[in-house]
Amino acid sequence: MNVLGIDTTADDTCAAIVFDGYKILSNIVASQISLHRPFGGIVPQIASREHLKNIIPSIDQALNESGLSFKDIHLISVGQSPDPALSYYHIGITTAKFLAYVLNLPLVGVDHMEAHLFANFAVFRELKPPFISLTAAGGHTLLTLVRGYGDYEILGSTLDDAAGEAFDKAARILGLSYPGGPSIDEAAKEGQPGAYKFPRPMSHHRGYDFSYSGLKTAVYLKVKELKEDGGGNLSQSQTADVAAGFREAVVDSLLTKAFSAIREYNVNIFVLGGGVAANNLIRSEAESRGKRKGVKVYYPPKNLCTDNAVGTAVLGYFQYQRRGGSNIFELPYFRKSPLAKW
Ligand SMILES: Nc1ncnc2c1ncn2[C@@H]1O[C@H](COP(=O)(O)OP(=O)(O)OP(=O)(O)O)[C@@H](O)[C@H]1O
Ligand SMILES: [Mg+2]
Repeated sequence: MNVLGIDTTADDTCAAIVFDGYKILSNIVASQISLHRPFGGIVPQIASREHLKNIIPSIDQALNESGLSFKDIHLISVGQSPDPALSYYHIGITTAKFLAYVLNLPLVGVDHMEAHLFANFAVFRELKPPFISLTAAGGHTLLTLVRGYGDYEILGSTLDDAAGEAFDKAARILGLSYPGGPSIDEAAKEGQPGAYKFPRPMSHHRGYDFSYSGLKTAVYLKVKELKEDGGGNLSQSQTADVAAGFREAVVDSLLTKAFSAIREYNVNIFVLGGGVAANNLIRSEAESRGKRKGVKVYYPPKNLCTDNAVGTAVLGYFQYQRRGGSNIFELPYFRKSPLAKW
């Protein structure tokens, strides 16, 4: 079964075709990053305009790259987001509804955060639940017990900023470019993580929730202090040291909670997903903690961590096998909560 995935839930226009939930035939991402960069975050009006411009060419390119045409597509799967305030993801959903209607194809709507997780299934065919997953991106941070496909228990989520958002804000404070995750990852390469002390958010709280506003404030105050001492400037090595200390604090807080959950729920598989899973330190640190604890660690290639429609197509395939398609006219535009059971 060839599934066309479509996702416009953030600032990338994504279209992909995946065969039977694992074989990636094409993966198109029309990035808008350069347009949002001057503003340090996603500007909804720009995102809407660009999705409108790019959605049809992206789908066309996905078909061309796969060597298929619409007559070879068997299912359309589209990403839905839990945030009703952001209207730009409606563009992907409306396009998917229109295509399903005129082509007489079944349609499924899938949770965008769950799609971040399911990108892993396209790459690792041996991967099967149960496992603990950490999906950390620009809008969400979710630590989840995945008992089976569609069988989830969210153990923890963020109380304020998402982990990716914290990277974006810390980068802004440091004068590094948007998106902050890759910029901080790059700057941190040259830095000493122990040069300045940053708090480990929520480490003294029981449970699995995350919070990044305190850490963000600590970065702000440290940068302010360094700038005051440096006549208004931050040196390159100070920038690198703050970036390294901040990155280590975020990664440590995420992985400490994740590995506690792995122990409590007695699983031996840990799966990362979402933009923050592209972070070099979280990848290497998860691997080394996993080796020490006898836990197998999975994370997708970097281009399947940040937004893509491969995970959307894979998840659509799995859902369709179990539940069939949705009514095109009734498919809602947003989801009430991420990682709901199905
Ligand atoms: N190397 C990295 N290290 C840390 N964070 C990263 C890295 N690369 C990307 N990110 C972060 O990931 C986020 C983008 O990921 P993604 O596109 O999945 O998020 P989103 O779609 O905006 O949000 P969500 O998926 O929660 O709705 C940004 O906040 C970005 O800073
Ligand atoms: Mg995303």
